[in-house]
Amino acid sequence: MKKSDPIGIFDSGIGGTSIFKEIHKLLPLEHILYLADSKNAPYGEKTKEEITSLSFKNVDLLLSKNCKLIVVACNTATTSSIKELREKYKVPFIGIEPAIKPAALNSKTKAIGILATKGTLSSELFAQTTDLIAKDIELIEVVGNGLVEAVEDGEQGSEKTHQLLKKLLAPMIEKKIDHLVLGCSHYPYLVPSIKKILPPHVQIIDSGEAVARQTKNVLKKKGLLASVQQIKPEFYTNKNPQVLRDLLHQGNSENFQVSYLDF
Ligand code: DGL
Repeated sequence: MKKSDPIGIFDSGIGGTSIFKEIHKLLPLEHILYLADSKNAPYGEKTKEEITSLSFKNVDLLLSKNCKLIVVACNTATTSSIKELREKYKVPFIGIEPAIKPAALNSKTKAIGILATKGTLSSELFAQTTDLIAKDIELIEVVGNGLVEAVEDGEQGSEKTHQLLKKLLAPMIEKKIDHLVLGCSHYPYLVPSIKKILPPHVQIIDSGEAVARQTKNVLKKKGLLASVQQIKPEFYTNKNPQVLRDLLHQGNSENFQVSYLDF
C-alpha cells in the first residue's frame, strides 16, 4: 500500500456522497474512488446475508483498484457487515453508525429521534450501541421507509417527499425530541425539507464529519496520508450517472468524473 493509492468509498447508492464531501473537504489531496451500488438500493430491506454479500462485491472491486483504506459510507452495510468485512480483508475499514452519543450527551428533554433504515435499527450493533449509550434517554426510532428511494430518484426536494417526512417525523415532534439523529447517509440531502418540519430548536446530527476525522486519523497512524495532490476523485455507478452527477454538483463548483460501470 502506498500514500498515493486511492481511498475507496462505497454505499448502497448515491447518499454516501454526503460522506464523500466531508472526506474530500478534510483530505483534499487524496485520490478517492466512490462506488454507488444504486442498482441494488435500498439495502435496508435486505437480509444480513444479502447485505454482506453485496458489501463483499463492492470491496472486491475497490481492492482491484488498489484502495489503501475503505469507507463503508452506509449505516446499513456497517451495522450488518463491518465485522465480516474486517474478518475477511486486511485493508483498514471505516464504518458509519448513527451518532447517538453526542445527541444523548446533549439532550435536555431526554428524548432523541432517530431516523434510519429497517436494517440499521434492527441490527445487533445498533442494539449494543444504544444499550451502552442511551440508558436514561427515550429513543424514538422511525424507519425511513421510502426516503432512500426518494434521494435515489432525485426527489429529495419534492412535495411528495416533504409530505412523507412530515408523517415520519410526527411521532418525534409529539415526544418533544431536541435532537434528531440521521442514521442513513442518504438523509443529509433531506435536511432542507426536515428543517421546515421540525421546531427550530431541534438539532440535526449526522456522522459525516466524524467519519472524515476518523479516516484522517487512521491514514495518519498508518503513514498513508497523501502528501502531494493526487488525481481528482472518481465516481462509478451501476445505475443512472446523471442523478449522481446532479447530486454531486449541487452547490459545488468542482467538476467530478462520473461513469457508469456494471458491477
Ligand atoms: N445510505 C444507506 C445507509 O446509510 C442507505 C441504506 C439503504 O440502501 O437502504 O443506510
